[in-house]
Amino acid sequence: MKKILVIGSTGQIGSELTKVLRETYGNENVVAGYIKGAEPKGWLAESGPMAEADVTNPQMIADIVKQYQIDTIYNLAALLSVVAESKPRLAWKIGIDGLWNILEVAREHGCAVFTPSSIGSFGLSTPKMMTPQDTIQRPRTIYGVSKVTTELLSDYYFNKYGVDTRAVRFPGVISYVTPPGGGTTDYAVDIYYNAVRGDKFICPIKEGTLMDMIYMPDALKAAVDLMEADPARLKHRNAFNIASLSFAPETVFAAIKKYKPEFEMEYDVDPLKQSIAESWPDRMDDSCAREEWDWCPRYDLDSMTKDML
Ligand code: SER
Repeated sequence: MKKILVIGSTGQIGSELTKVLRETYGNENVVAGYIKGAEPKGWLAESGPMAEADVTNPQMIADIVKQYQIDTIYNLAALLSVVAESKPRLAWKIGIDGLWNILEVAREHGCAVFTPSSIGSFGLSTPKMMTPQDTIQRPRTIYGVSKVTTELLSDYYFNKYGVDTRAVRFPGVISYVTPPGGGTTDYAVDIYYNAVRGDKFICPIKEGTLMDMIYMPDALKAAVDLMEADPARLKHRNAFNIASLSFAPETVFAAIKKYKPEFEMEYDVDPLKQSIAESWPDRMDDSCAREEWDWCPRYDLDSMTKDML
């Protein structure tokens, strides 16, 4: 049975990932890592072990790995794209210096490491439609720069030291459990919250702007399946394109309106979010993930919308 540490267990993906991992591997085998000020509460705190796991403190990570005999680390510590632009030094410190600390602990203690990359690892010079697995990655956001570095550093530790690093490039992740914060794709979550509350939605992203999105259960399945995949089949490691949904604001609006005919939306475009969105793919090609570890999403826009509402 795996012994897992989830770093960032109280975040948008971390909280639901910890739940799925506890259901899969047993509550006692999954440690919920947190930072001061973001302690686990409720079910997360009560269902299994938890420990302060600050990625900027390598000794703290090493102590948890030793104490709980951890063999797999899910490292979800990061600032999202919009907030990182106002705190670039902190984004780097958490995303890259923190990753370095984790990879060193993993090398010494033989842990596998999952550190997600993102659609943000691509830039304006990347082919936008059916973005290939191996292509140009020259992002201009600090989020993107740190995600490309994450991919390279993770591959470096695999090739040089044999550390079992694997990752996916997450699309915008949509969920009704824990809201995201500070991302460019957050609008696709906010629009559902507004629809459920019965409020008009003010959309910060321009009509016609396509971005890759994914419903949380599919995102979690990708993270778990990839870490369970047969390593002999993996030609890539850091990080796999995974595609699921690709839509523009007017499309998700129409999908919601089908169930909530009174729902209204207006545009008030945020220049920073819009410029980031325009630098990201319209739709990724995920054929390598499908071939190498049988990736296949379950939700489409309509089934996700029914579930979200
Ligand atoms: N959801 C992220 C963001 O918008 C992208 O991976 O920053």
